Amino acid sequence: MSRSIDLAVIPGDGIGQEVVAQGLKVLNAVLPQDVKLETKEYDLGAQRWHRTGDTLPDAELEALKNHDAILLGAIGDPSVPSGVLERGLLLKLRFAFDHFINLRPSKLFPNTATPLAGRPDIDFVVVREGTEGPYTGNGGSLRTGTPAEVATEVSLNTAYGVERVVRDAFERAAARPRKKLTLVHKNNVLVYAGHLWKNTFDKVAAEYPQVSTDYLHVDAATIFFVTQPERFDVIVTDNLFGDILTDLAAAVSGGIGLAASGNINPTGAFPSMFEPVHGSAPDIAGQGKADPTATVLSVALLLRHLGYEAEATRIEDAVSADLAERDGGAARTTDEIGDALAVRVAS
Ligand code: NAI
Ligand code: MG
Repeated sequence: MSRSIDLAVIPGDGIGQEVVAQGLKVLNAVLPQDVKLETKEYDLGAQRWHRTGDTLPDAELEALKNHDAILLGAIGDPSVPSGVLERGLLLKLRFAFDHFINLRPSKLFPNTATPLAGRPDIDFVVVREGTEGPYTGNGGSLRTGTPAEVATEVSLNTAYGVERVVRDAFERAAARPRKKLTLVHKNNVLVYAGHLWKNTFDKVAAEYPQVSTDYLHVDAATIFFVTQPERFDVIVTDNLFGDILTDLAAAVSGGIGLAASGNINPTGAFPSMFEPVHGSAPDIAGQGKADPTATVLSVALLLRHLGYEAEATRIEDAVSADLAERDGGAARTTDEIGDALAVRVAS
């Protein structure tokens, strides 16, 4: 049997370049001989924008569509006005490829620091809606820049959009040992969107009697992320709540150097995109100080999405073993951590 992965690679800016190189190193090491890996690099991000003024030209968007998946490092630099690359590149990709699942696992690995007392057992995944909510650009302003300025930023929620993310979350919960799904919203105040989310959740729940369900308002959820994170297994929530909650989740479970994510289109109509949660870290770029683990864990999510479950698990086990043996004393370079992980997965 011959299998292949046709991967688009967007290293992007700053440490994006450094961590993606390690992600590819581990990917090459973990894949069995019979899997043919082809990669094509796309030069997108701040440097490209400075050179040509392009964020994501149509020709490249079209070309990206043909790959099996996308691995992205980080996009952004303080020299580019805020919003240009976020809207013109990152959000454009998510909307054009209908990445309606934003998947962010949080696991407290051995020997990693958490600000929480007593090292709670953290192992949950947030399924954040990726294409609706307040992130669609549905708003405007009037009398802008005057004392009478009016601004709206409307949260868009469709029955179709809510149902597909809720179904995906139930599937993911049903596949995990604890089989528990928590809906996070704010349906006591945001009653219209909240009603749609809660009703859809309850309707789909009836089809998954094996999954236990729970509901939390988002403010209460922030309390439990800190005081009782072990209560969570799978969480489903809207775009804005998910954005905020997943930063908190990263903070309590080992920090930004370990947080992985996937922008997923489960239908396969377009390639899904996998990336570390962190940005381009201009403060440490080019110094070999970046931790590539978040990118390597994103590669594991990518492999699982493409059906390489055993290889994904091997990467996660390698990260777990590597962290368990990391000693606080000697800081390793980006390259050294990548090498160590590549050796571990290549057995
Ligand atoms: P950042 O995540 O780049 O850095 C925040 C802090 O975490 C810095 O002190 C950095 O050194 C550290 N850090 C980040 N990743 C690390 C790693 N792998 N290993 C060790 N330390 C790490 O966030 P910041 O500074 O707010 O943004 C920098 C640029 O990145 C901005 O232009 C921003 O727009 C962009 N950005 C891009 C994202 C993306 O491509 N999806 C996500 C977040 C920010
Ligand atoms: Mg964010």
